[in-house]
Amino acid sequence: MAKLISGKEVSARVKAEVKAECDRLKEKGITPGLAVIIVGNDPASRVYVNNKKKACAEVGFVSEEYALPESTTEEQLLELVDELNKKDTIHGILCQLPLPSHLDEKAVINAISPEKDVDAFHPSNVGKIMIGDYTFLPCTPAGVMEMIHFSGIEVSGKNCVVIGRSNIVGKPMAMLLLHENGTVTICHSRTKNLKEICSQADILVAAVGRPNFVTADMVKDGAVVLDVGINRLKSGKLCGDVDFEAVEKKASYITPVPGGVGPMTIAMLMKNTLSAAKAANGIE
Ligand code: GUN
Repeated sequence: MAKLISGKEVSARVKAEVKAECDRLKEKGITPGLAVIIVGNDPASRVYVNNKKKACAEVGFVSEEYALPESTTEEQLLELVDELNKKDTIHGILCQLPLPSHLDEKAVINAISPEKDVDAFHPSNVGKIMIGDYTFLPCTPAGVMEMIHFSGIEVSGKNCVVIGRSNIVGKPMAMLLLHENGTVTICHSRTKNLKEICSQADILVAAVGRPNFVTADMVKDGAVVLDVGINRLKSGKLCGDVDFEAVEKKASYITPVPGGVGPMTIAMLMKNTLSAAKAANGIE
């Protein structure tokens, strides 16, 4: 039976460290500030944004929410980003994705100042991640790495398989595993022999967005299984991309959903915002 890697436990530790550092910054008169932009009425985005604001309050940051109507034009959105880029009390800017379809996500990501890009979505930050010279790590992959480290799991030399090739999760996840000397394979919807490849993984990361996609026959005995999926079933229940009940019998470590990678993403966002506030004030 697999050991559970609790995102609640690991994220609480990360947030406690961030809070302690935030307290020290406040003694110097600096309070980290995060601006969160949400456009439209997507209910999932609303939950995520609320959780991000709650985490800011927990660690002692100031958060500012900019809730814009669905009808917002690209020009208006870019104007807001520009204003926040210039605002000294704001160290991190996050525009919750997805945006309504009439808005160009790329244009908005490109407009956020790289120094305030706490999601690490800007091409300049993505490029830095590629060469292993980064200020910010993308929050979800960084959260997965934190769980791996917390559990004392060695990545070097391991077969690592990432299912999913999104810019937000799959691609940077593969890069972070590679930086730690994993032998990394990225699988996606066109991959042939998916089951064969996955069943050779020592470390398997599922970021597909389909409930119960990873079944027990795809998992090697003793594998470490990290589930990035957050899927809402018709019943309203949340579940990951992994068939948890069957896979936990084979894996050595597994992350649950909810209470796994999800809380880690937010904890790493706090860590990035702290780093941005320190960098903006010339503190190492
Ligand atoms: N939508 C889903 N995940 C994320 C994330 O990590 N950051 C932003 N900005 N939007 C998201």
